[in-house]
Amino acid sequence: MGCGRGRIAHYLATMTGGQVSGYNIDPNQIENAIEWAAQTNMTDRLHFKEGNHHDPLDYDSESFDGCFSVQAVWPFFKTEELDDCAREMYRILKPGTRYACSEYLLSPYFDWNNPEHAALHKIYLPTLAATQSMYPADVCAALERAGFKILVSEPSQRPAWPICEQKRNLIFGIRKVIRFLEKVRILPPWVEESLELLQNGGEAWADAEKAKIADLNWRIVAEKPAA
Ligand SMILES: C[S@@+](CC[C@H](N)C(=O)[O-])C[C@H]1O[C@@H](n2cnc3c(N)ncnc32)[C@H](O)[C@@H]1O
Repeated sequence: MGCGRGRIAHYLATMTGGQVSGYNIDPNQIENAIEWAAQTNMTDRLHFKEGNHHDPLDYDSESFDGCFSVQAVWPFFKTEELDDCAREMYRILKPGTRYACSEYLLSPYFDWNNPEHAALHKIYLPTLAATQSMYPADVCAALERAGFKILVSEPSQRPAWPICEQKRNLIFGIRKVIRFLEKVRILPPWVEESLELLQNGGEAWADAEKAKIADLNWRIVAEKPAA
């Protein structure tokens, strides 16, 4: 779900020898996924198409042996929309199979009434390209209401903040060059402003993750009971 440029689908098809289907709202990413499948002689096992997971999924009921999402589903759903999404996942899976995800979610320690938590969230959210921040418990409750049994709901095994810090250092270096280019009027001022927002967002994310109030790869595994 929300397969992006299909690299994880490609990896899973390679690893399992199975067929993997992916959809994404962005036609450019789908085009790239299809091209990559062709370049690597995987078109017979990788199937990509445009799709929006706010609509009913364009797949037959009980047609999949598994379903997965990586940082692509729950950060885009409001609480009142979670049930529809969970029901669609349940519908397309065969009985006895599983949905697994690694997704941005708040941790149970995040407290909306804590001003420090709320301030960090306000800074990092736009730079995550997420629009919603859900608790694992809300997602799991929706999955359970759809009929799934929750097997795993756990924090990530490895933190993402070291990569965020690498990115921050890179942006920090680029900003010096950008500032110079702005000074000599080669670039407009908004370039540096955007980089500053990105850098601040990365720093806020690292602080939130270190405080264990948010997780970029919270893991959930849910099983559709056998018929
Ligand atoms: C952070 S990227 C993750 C992509 C991919 N899962 C991966 O890990 O490489 C989030 C993806 O969700 C897609 N997306 C966002 N909203 C969507 C929607 N409503 N329906 C389908 N895909 C969506 C974006 O286009 C983007 O490719």
